[in-house]
Amino acid sequence: MENVVYQGMTFEPFIKREEIQKEIQRLAVEIERDCQTDNPIFLCVLNGAYVFAADLYRAINIPKSEITFIRFKSYEGTASTGAVTQIMGLVDDLSDREVIIIEDIVDTGVTAVQLRKKLADYKPKCVKMVTLLFKPDSLKQGTKPEYVGFSIPSRFILGYGLDIDGMARNLPDIYVLKEKETQN
Ligand code: IMP
Ligand code: MG
Repeated sequence: MENVVYQGMTFEPFIKREEIQKEIQRLAVEIERDCQTDNPIFLCVLNGAYVFAADLYRAINIPKSEITFIRFKSYEGTASTGAVTQIMGLVDDLSDREVIIIEDIVDTGVTAVQLRKKLADYKPKCVKMVTLLFKPDSLKQGTKPEYVGFSIPSRFILGYGLDIDGMARNLPDIYVLKEKETQN
């Protein structure tokens, strides 16, 4: 695999598509096994999680389950702004439902905490979170999600849904910003 360049920065291969798919199968088995109800609702956090959610949800065999979407934004360029904006709301009735949030990555934890707070208003039966990626050293709020694909160092990554200012979401593999070019 070759390096890719975005915004003048070089990114090197980090997690291959085959490894991602293998991890998704493992997560799907665990989520299915742990489900307490027969009609859980999966909540994909847009934009970043759309690729992961599509693959994960198709790997989960719960016939009466549903998927829905919410949109949050917290990143500008390669750093979290610390402020989370909700851009697209929820229209679904989540009351007494088992809700499983699907995230691409948990970094500072700010988005996860805000989302869980917001969901509490809908009186769900329970809320769990699955994230493909988790940066444990960056976590400032909340706790480790119930399901984690890969725990990774606090470096900026892109591809497989993750973007740099809206770009690179279509890369089938995950890339990491080359060490010497990491900002902060
Ligand atoms: P948090 O609120 O700081 O946990 O950040 C969550 C959101 O920031 C994620 O859902 C991503 O959209 C974005 N994000 C965090 N780290 C990265 C990264 O390394 N690359 C691209 N987006 C990221
Ligand atoms: Mg996101």
